[in-house]
Amino acid sequence: MKTRITELFGIEYPIICGGMLWLATPELCAAISNAGALGNITACNYDTGEDLREAIQKAKQLTNKPIGINITLLPSMRFTEAIYDDFFRVCAEEKVAAIEVSGKPAVKYLDMLHKAGVKVMHKVGAVRHAKNIERYGYDAVIAAGIEEGGHPLNDDVTLMVLLPRIAETVNIPVIATGGIADGRGLAAAMSLGAEGVLMATRFIATRECDVHPKIYDELIQRQENETTLICKSLGLQGRALKNKLAEHVLELEAQGSGLAELIPLLSGQKAKEAWKTGETDTAAFMVGQSVGLVKEVTTCEELIQSMVREAKETLQKNLARF
Ligand SMILES: Cc1cc2nc3c(=O)[nH]c(=O)nc-3n(C[C@H](O)[C@H](O)[C@H](O)COP(=O)(O)O)c2cc1C
Repeated sequence: MKTRITELFGIEYPIICGGMLWLATPELCAAISNAGALGNITACNYDTGEDLREAIQKAKQLTNKPIGINITLLPSMRFTEAIYDDFFRVCAEEKVAAIEVSGKPAVKYLDMLHKAGVKVMHKVGAVRHAKNIERYGYDAVIAAGIEEGGHPLNDDVTLMVLLPRIAETVNIPVIATGGIADGRGLAAAMSLGAEGVLMATRFIATRECDVHPKIYDELIQRQENETTLICKSLGLQGRALKNKLAEHVLELEAQGSGLAELIPLLSGQKAKEAWKTGETDTAAFMVGQSVGLVKEVTTCEELIQSMVREAKETLQKNLARF
């Protein structure tokens, strides 16, 4: 498969792993990159730039293929501006293939990154933001539908509409995310103007993702209607699996609770532990509606191969109908 995205990042297939706090580790990243897609290390897993450098070097020992880094520029109590500066500087020094930025645009770092040969993409949920990303000089833009796990934009537009709207508006390559977990989604995204797809939830159900086996069972059992948007009232909505914790957060929001009451419930440390213990009611699991498409646990290699095969079959089958 050849698109401007495979060319840009030097990868075999136009499939990218998105940022996943605590889960996108050097090991998972390398497994995805070795399978011909673009793996991801999430910078916010680490406290300092030097810790991130260590993770990048670990991934480089496990793969000689291109790797990507997610840097999330959302309001944070853990990170100062100086730490973000270090994250970007380390990525430039380590000459990673790509950075996926979410949240605030990373305009001040673009020049340094481009000089180091690092390609930069930004995740957006609106056409107006995609236009800005192109104007700032990014290499690619990610259209993120409301279906996505993590923090979809509060415009609440589905990928089905957002993707063709962004693809018809900008000239830089567009990557689709939100609700994609198999080859049918890859084929659909390409048909709507994407040159690549980015997934997260589906990558959790891989052998190389370091979660408790109970998490695999939970993902396989849960359906597409079993996620919800929490923290909408705070202006920072997040899509999470419906569980006791999410219900409690929604109740508190309905009663008018603010950041001070909600923050302790949503601590990143709780989620970090829960992925490992398999305790599924005590933390916010930020998974997307694509959880309904997760049917089995595979290796990353099996996942990528089956997606590419299924995308081709889907496109051929549909072409035969015209
Ligand atoms: C467990 C998990 C953690 C995530 N953490 C982050 C993150 O730290 N930064 C970010 O930009 N996106 C994060 N996301 C969002 C993904 O990168 C991606 O945009 C989204 O999940 C795509 O939708 P999908 O899960 O349906 O594939 C996370 C998603 C999941 C499932």
